[in-house]
Amino acid sequence: MSPTILLVDVASSERENWKAFLQEQSYKVFTARDADTALRQCHLLQPDLVLLHDTLPEMDGFELCRRLKENPLNQLIPVVVIKRSSDPAENSRGRNAGAADFWEACTSLVEGLLRIESLLRLKSYMDEQAKCVVLSLAHSIEAKSPLIQGHSDRMAEYAVQFGESLGLEERELQDLRVAGLLHDIGKVAVPDSILLKPGPLSANEMEVVRQHPVFGEQICAPLRSLRRILPAIRHHHERMDGSGYPDGLRGQQIPLHARILQVADIYDALTTARPYRIALTSEEALEILRQEALHGWIDFCLVREFLRIHQSEQEFQLRGRSMLASYYGTTPSSKNSTVI
Ligand SMILES: [Fe+2]
Repeated sequence: MSPTILLVDVASSERENWKAFLQEQSYKVFTARDADTALRQCHLLQPDLVLLHDTLPEMDGFELCRRLKENPLNQLIPVVVIKRSSDPAENSRGRNAGAADFWEACTSLVEGLLRIESLLRLKSYMDEQAKCVVLSLAHSIEAKSPLIQGHSDRMAEYAVQFGESLGLEERELQDLRVAGLLHDIGKVAVPDSILLKPGPLSANEMEVVRQHPVFGEQICAPLRSLRRILPAIRHHHERMDGSGYPDGLRGQQIPLHARILQVADIYDALTTARPYRIALTSEEALEILRQEALHGWIDFCLVREFLRIHQSEQEFQLRGRSMLASYYGTTPSSKNSTVI
């Protein structure tokens, strides 16, 4: 993916030179000619870098930088302020405004490019580090209760296995794996008194829990490396008939990765013990999934494929047990012998 740069400057031949030069280097370049557009574009585009020439009539470059940084989504986006000045105090003003770099002047486009490349390398490194922290955070939520321990790892495994059988490309499988690991990261914002409550939740408590996909999206949104999985995180509790949350999306409006996670999520929840019931067998869980698909809550075609995968797996296991039985002269257990 080519890095995206937001170029903030008044319309001028110099701005067009920068734009053309950066595009030649394969960057995606967007421009903003005033402060309002810059604030809006930065929020929507989430560029990899903002190059802010201090030329706007309505606002000082440092002030605009400060306002950009007020938005939590923009925290990790490096902002470079270019301001012609010989005042040494400007440097600290730039730092205080949250600028990643302050250029008093740029002698050439090539020099500017070298500096931009260096900032983008740093941004990419910070993204990867932050991603590790977010992944650790997701695991720390599970560490609070043995009932949910290992859930996200299993989700990642099921989702990738499922994606493979659907013929998804390698990049999509990687996204599914990370989305599986992070789908419930927003639960970090749910109080333990609710998250770990052994009994049924009140309507208010349920409302708090239902916010976790939105919290999750907000936590991951500033990281470029997690941008592609945001829809899966936000929509993994939607339902095909529109009765899910947070947006009440219906059918194909729900992104494919989110629909894949839903199936894996339900299957894992059912095959794991809860305070009020023992873990269901794979066959029982698959039957419930089938019923939910027939009710129109989850994607029927995906469930059919999920059943097919598990059916072949169970047949494979049964064949293995039967071979062992004939070898050792014992009968395989009938507990899991029902093949759906
Ligand atoms: Fe969830």
